Amino acid sequence: MDKFTFYNPTKIIFGIDTIATLSEHLPIGANIMLLYGGGSIKRNGIYEQVKKSLANFTHVEFAGVEPNPRYETLMKAVELGRAENVNFILAVGGGSVLDAAKFIAIAIPYQNGDPWEILVKRLGSTITAAVPIGTVLTLPATGSEMNANSVISRESTREKLAFSSLACFPVFSILDPRVVSSLPQRQIANGIVDAFTHVMEQYLTYPADAPLQDRFAESILQTLIEVGPKVYANPNDLTAAGNFMWCTTMALNGLIGKGVPNDWATHNIGHELTALFGIDHARTLAIIAPNLYRVLFAFKKEKLAQYATRVWNITEGSNEERAQAAISRTVEFFHSLGIQTKLSDYTSDYAGTAEEIVSRFTRRNWLKLGENGNVTIERVKEIVEMSY
Ligand code: NZQ
Ligand code: ZN
Repeated sequence: MDKFTFYNPTKIIFGIDTIATLSEHLPIGANIMLLYGGGSIKRNGIYEQVKKSLANFTHVEFAGVEPNPRYETLMKAVELGRAENVNFILAVGGGSVLDAAKFIAIAIPYQNGDPWEILVKRLGSTITAAVPIGTVLTLPATGSEMNANSVISRESTREKLAFSSLACFPVFSILDPRVVSSLPQRQIANGIVDAFTHVMEQYLTYPADAPLQDRFAESILQTLIEVGPKVYANPNDLTAAGNFMWCTTMALNGLIGKGVPNDWATHNIGHELTALFGIDHARTLAIIAPNLYRVLFAFKKEKLAQYATRVWNITEGSNEERAQAAISRTVEFFHSLGIQTKLSDYTSDYAGTAEEIVSRFTRRNWLKLGENGNVTIERVKEIVEMSY
């Protein structure tokens, strides 16, 4: 295991009916921006619960954060936040609303020009000023509720870029499994596949003498395989929903990726498919991940074989055969959740996608992705073409 520093200051308030405790966690005297998405919280009653907790707090609302939140929309929230001297952001929603809150939080105090530059120039680690954030998570998937990452899209350039800043960890996040009951099946499936892939990005690399990290990762994968289909079949199963929720948070709160090699090339490529075609984030991962494992097979086969045995109980065959079988089982798992794994299942307009992604990566100097820097642009092209 490599050296590491682990820091995660987010307070988690987990459990059924914990949304009712929201006012206890808000800073007294705060001037709050309540941030939310397209209105699901108004239909499922979460908005009312939140408003009750906000009764004694000064607050303004900013609604309409879209899935894959857009810079253009968020800059309007930044203007509002500055005009109203907002000093706390309460994000109520899924990964998109939470990521939006992080961007708004660093953009409000930013004085060095256009905050989009923070994403383009990868300045996240230099940012220290941010408006503090609290969250009520309504969609278990991204882990945004307990990490410092944010992914923002820019409509004018059809780009989707990420940043990470320690200043963006939420101060607190409320994880109430009741929110799962109103989720459409499509979003539950997305959440399972997104969290699953987050674990794979931090686990499916090469052996690194980190057995505890491996077993953390494997236990999250096994739990997702066990409870994910239960939640998918019945979102009112509160026990399964709670366990699913905790898996998605643990999958990307920084813990399992410490001291071990990380990949993230599936995400790098997947984000382009959302930017180009508007495909749901998790579905882009389901399209790319299996082909990335195939193209990088020679480098990943040891971990793939371990994954086969420990996660899927595949015990027959050579290392290579088990590794191949594990890729097939992963694809079957995605299909069982109604998630298609080819780009052509989502768009007929895919010709030239590989070239476009390669040209974008070349422009950004993203020439060596993955845990070994061996996801070269040639391999990116091969992976994307295999995914058509
Ligand atoms: O906008 P509303 O009306 O709230 O509806 C949302 C949205 O349409 C709906 N929804 C959320 N909670 C609901 C609900 N509907 C019914 N009942 C509820 N309880 O679900 C739709 C999708 O929401 P969204 O927030 O977009 O989904 P998700 O949580 O999957 O977030 C995806 C975004 O997160 C980024 C992705 O790139 C994408 O932009 N990611 C963020 C990461 C991070 N911060 O660490 C890591 C991830 O890899 C990912 O890249
Ligand atoms: Zn993801």
